Amino acid sequence: MFNPSKIRLDFPILKSGIIYMDNAASSLTPEPVLQKMLEFYHDYRANVKRGVHRLSQKASEEYEQVHRKVAKFINAKSDDMIVLTKNTTESINIVANGLDWKKGDKVVTTLIEHHSNFITWLRLRKRFGIKVEVVKPDKEGIFDFKSFEEAIDDKTKLVAMTHTSNVLGVITPVEKISELAHDHGALFLVDGAQSVPHLKVDVQKIGCDYLAFSGHKMLGPTGIGVLYMKKDVVERTQPLCIGGGTVTKVSSDLYSLIEDSRKFEAGTPAIAEAIGLGAAIDYIARVGFDGLMSHERKLTEKMCRGLRDIPKIEVYGPKDHKKRIGIAAFNIINFSPHDVALALDVSANIMVRSGNHCAMPLMKELLKKPEGCVRASLYLYNTMNEVNELISAVNEIAIS
Ligand SMILES: Cc1ncc(COP(=O)(O)O)c(C=O)c1O
Repeated sequence: MFNPSKIRLDFPILKSGIIYMDNAASSLTPEPVLQKMLEFYHDYRANVKRGVHRLSQKASEEYEQVHRKVAKFINAKSDDMIVLTKNTTESINIVANGLDWKKGDKVVTTLIEHHSNFITWLRLRKRFGIKVEVVKPDKEGIFDFKSFEEAIDDKTKLVAMTHTSNVLGVITPVEKISELAHDHGALFLVDGAQSVPHLKVDVQKIGCDYLAFSGHKMLGPTGIGVLYMKKDVVERTQPLCIGGGTVTKVSSDLYSLIEDSRKFEAGTPAIAEAIGLGAAIDYIARVGFDGLMSHERKLTEKMCRGLRDIPKIEVYGPKDHKKRIGIAAFNIINFSPHDVALALDVSANIMVRSGNHCAMPLMKELLKKPEGCVRASLYLYNTMNEVNELISAVNEIAIS
């Protein structure tokens, strides 16, 4: 049984009375994750994939096991590849820099992307003369499938889009777009930074070639992320870095690279952080993803409805809460978003994010809010009481 009161006990930071609603930026980390990382430092701290001594063997086992945990978590097949990276940004950059681009190739992306899944493609335009086409949704962030049909053609090498917007909270129809991309022989990359922590993401169901996400948004530590690669695309994707740990043989004029995830994980990896990510996955599995999703759905509905009822407020994203995850981006008319965020902290102990959320094209061209907005984002430890407090604190500011 999903029990938020019990879950909250695992997050001592909450004892101070703060209401943490900046989860889309980074989540909090529960004690079992920290303990598992500390266990590495206390009991078997050593480098991985190298030593024969028992500490290195234990560290290597724990580190390798994380790949299998991640694969199970996103339902990857056993011959697909899970690469442990620094974060979503690095995962996307591996793909951007690892494919063999030719002048005239096309990348299709969207206007609601985080900069990490946007400027990476613009840079290729400069470097290789590729074309970047940006698909625009309606004001709520909902796409007309026809726009993708018009944008994706036989010159399209890659379609790169987010599964959920980090501003609008909108869930995108990645399964349908994956099919369309593949019909045209294009690869399909999904930015799962916001979806993997909150929805049951199944790479086989989506049919994507790449999925990128970050550990720190799903109860794990910072400094660890994931790039999932479907078996068929591994060979065409070159690693971003090579060096120690990535080779089978090196002579004075030749080297050959290992054909498994080690090829992409050059040098000493973030070992404790990877182990922490594994523990975060275990934690989510223990509390139960179905319970987590249904809890977040209830809070999201209340948060969006409650905020929309406040005078002088604009709430962005889909009105239909079933089409979104627990992110509410809003502005109070005539208030700076940073002032609102500060007031929520000072007057109500509520932590939210304000600004452009690394999504300037969305803020400027879709919402016409170059000054940004306030964003409250939920996770499994938030409660209905906290949502009510958010609504009443925003209302107080709006009527002040
Ligand atoms: C949708 C989306 N993509 C990519 C990123 C980048 O994630 P990271 O900073 O962990 O690389 C974020 C971070 O907020 C995000 O929300």
